[in-house]
Amino acid sequence: MPNWLKDAVFYEIYPQSFYDTNADGIGDLKGITEKLDYVKGLGCNAIWLNPIYDSPFMDAGYDVRDHKKVAARYGNEDDLKALLDKAHSMNMHILLDLVPGHTSDTHPWFQEAKKAKKSEFTNRYIFTNCVWEAPPEYRLMCGICERDGNYLVNYFSSQPALNYGFYEVTHPQWQLPHDHPSAKASAEALKDVMRHWLDFGVDGFRVDMADSLVKNDDEKIATAAIWRDVREMMDKDYPDAALVSEWCNPQRSIKNGGFHMDFYLDHYGNGYSTLFRYLVDGENKSFFCKDGKGDISTFLDEYLVNYERTKDLGYISFMTNNHDMPRGTFYMDDDTIKLSHAMMFTMPGVPFLYYGDELGMRYQTELVSKEGGFSRTGSRTPMQWDSSENLGFSQASADKLYLPVDGNENAPTVENQKNKKGSIYENVTNIIKLRHEIPQLANDSEFELIYGEKNKYPFAYRRGDYAVFVNPSGNDVEISFEEKELERIYTIGNAEFDGKSAKISASSFAIIKTK
Ligand code: GLC
Ligand code: CA
Repeated sequence: MPNWLKDAVFYEIYPQSFYDTNADGIGDLKGITEKLDYVKGLGCNAIWLNPIYDSPFMDAGYDVRDHKKVAARYGNEDDLKALLDKAHSMNMHILLDLVPGHTSDTHPWFQEAKKAKKSEFTNRYIFTNCVWEAPPEYRLMCGICERDGNYLVNYFSSQPALNYGFYEVTHPQWQLPHDHPSAKASAEALKDVMRHWLDFGVDGFRVDMADSLVKNDDEKIATAAIWRDVREMMDKDYPDAALVSEWCNPQRSIKNGGFHMDFYLDHYGNGYSTLFRYLVDGENKSFFCKDGKGDISTFLDEYLVNYERTKDLGYISFMTNNHDMPRGTFYMDDDTIKLSHAMMFTMPGVPFLYYGDELGMRYQTELVSKEGGFSRTGSRTPMQWDSSENLGFSQASADKLYLPVDGNENAPTVENQKNKKGSIYENVTNIIKLRHEIPQLANDSEFELIYGEKNKYPFAYRRGDYAVFVNPSGNDVEISFEEKELERIYTIGNAEFDGKSAKISASSFAIIKTK
């Protein structure tokens, strides 16, 4: 386990929207290098970069055309090297995004695979044995290659699935077992790509759709085995490099697959969703909502088991948002956002802050889809730096920007939020600072439930000598709590402790020292 994860707080950067240094309207690697001080100033000491590889950008770069080449629009390998060097000199770490499940259909491997003529890449993707074979349970692209067969896609139509074989082979005419040499060759090709960048100096990867490798693998047994093997390679040759999975199943990813971290994703109705983003027939039933109609128990039932079973092996990663879902501001008002951050950054695990969430950037609903973003586009708009042209993102003319900047008169920017009392920025940076200062609030310190009852508020938990209380509802609440408040560490709103009970006012949060 890389030691630096103990104190890691990540910042996710969507590179095309962060900072443009050459006025072409698209964020670039040099821009990230220039803004490292800003990221560090937030308290974030690690970064996850969305894909920066050469790509036709049908899915914003998650359609890789050349795994080993930096996309020209972001700069070149020297720029990446400079970014890594500077980050390392600041004691920061950088993860690239690894897309193991599919490539772009313009990738040279696929260009060979779709030919009638056999080659080393014939089995790199999943083709049926002839075009008339098209079982409807598979997402197949039919009749568009010279090769007599249809191919399986993993996500969009332009993203053919790489072939790691099938755990249960139901159509032996075309499905390879997961231990077939060609399936193994795909896993070796993946490891080769990883080694390339790890040797280059990156600090690990966020792994896209990590559970999608072996097909017909419902329990993800063979998929986890591939990651175990990857982990062995890392432990042996890159012990300081880290892997975080887009999986949302810590028992499978951390325990079985050997991932160091697993994202707690927003899957409608799961623990994360019911905390922060749970709309039921238009009604907000999230726990983090002033309406107070939330139920913490959905989260606790899921989280506590996962936490107990994986806490000695890896970290569950809370995130304020990511590039795939509406920003928190779409669901929560500013008070509630602050409380949600206070909770996420005082829970165990390795937390992730999505760029712009420290400002309360808006989810822009009015945009036309960009590069396969569709409903996700509104969370991918340019970072808002200051009041200058294009909110300081770029010096290109506004119509050349990757996406328009927030046109609202009151759009939050780093400039207008940084020193503002009571801002989301002030709150989240304060909490992250405490997390670094107080070891018992940090990533692998113990967690214990104090109070979390079905349909009730508050949620309260212990981190070592500290007790944390959060009441996102619009009502004052009181619970029995027979411990003494020795020291007040942090408060949002109002909270009182008299040695018998804890009174947490509406929309309030507190951390107290009790031991
Ligand atoms: C992941 C990424 C998403 C991408 C998809 C396909 O979910 O986060 O942005 O479109 O995988 O690669
Ligand atoms: Ca640029």
